[in-house]
Amino acid sequence: MIRIAAVGDVHVDKDVLGRFRPALEELPDRADVLLVAGDLTRHGTVEEARCFATEFGGLGVPVVTVLGNHDYQSDQQARVTDVLAESGITVLEGEATVLELHGRRLGVAGVKGFGGGFAGRCTSEFGEPETKAFARHGREAADALGYCLRSLDCDVRVALTHYSPIPETLVGEPLEIYPFLGSYHLAQAIDSAPTALAVHGHAHAGTERGLTPGGVKVRNVAHPVIRQAYSVYELDPADLPVPA
Ligand SMILES: [Fe+2]
Repeated sequence: MIRIAAVGDVHVDKDVLGRFRPALEELPDRADVLLVAGDLTRHGTVEEARCFATEFGGLGVPVVTVLGNHDYQSDQQARVTDVLAESGITVLEGEATVLELHGRRLGVAGVKGFGGGFAGRCTSEFGEPETKAFARHGREAADALGYCLRSLDCDVRVALTHYSPIPETLVGEPLEIYPFLGSYHLAQAIDSAPTALAVHGHAHAGTERGLTPGGVKVRNVAHPVIRQAYSVYELDPADLPVPA
């Protein structure tokens, strides 16, 4: 059994320091890895990244993250990534990592993702350059995620994104903003490999549980949704989806 702890949208700055740490100190007894689904900081500054590293670093379990839209706000995402990496925190953007846990190989493919919307109510690469660029960015992010998931050599695959792959975990958010909360391209990417679990954040008013069209479990772990320092999901490699 692989125990995956996950949370997103923790928005750490100096005022948040210490709020998560007591629960995180207990993490090694409860889970094998912690995934953080973006919006690690409030405004994406280097100072806030240091605060996140202080709060979430040195936990005794691997910490794997993606950035969220807030982490891009100050145009310092490269430095933010460096600060986290220097603290031993893995940041994935169109990349994957494999962790050895109890003799099992857990593969995590991560990308921030982007908006674009869902089937029948989505953008497409048509019309003005700005519209094409918006739609293309979402598709390319999903393409990168799908490639990483299919390329992983591991026992259990998990997809980690900030934006949502499905509308079900957005329920509670205004319908009008769904296209800014996720993209169906991400679900297609997740379904293109035998993915065991997909974890995202971003939708603070959404719903925790859903499924991709291909039947992969999706969990919205935004902190305001799960209302705890992290949720723990147990994955039994014997229950893995069979490759198509
Ligand atoms: Fe966000």
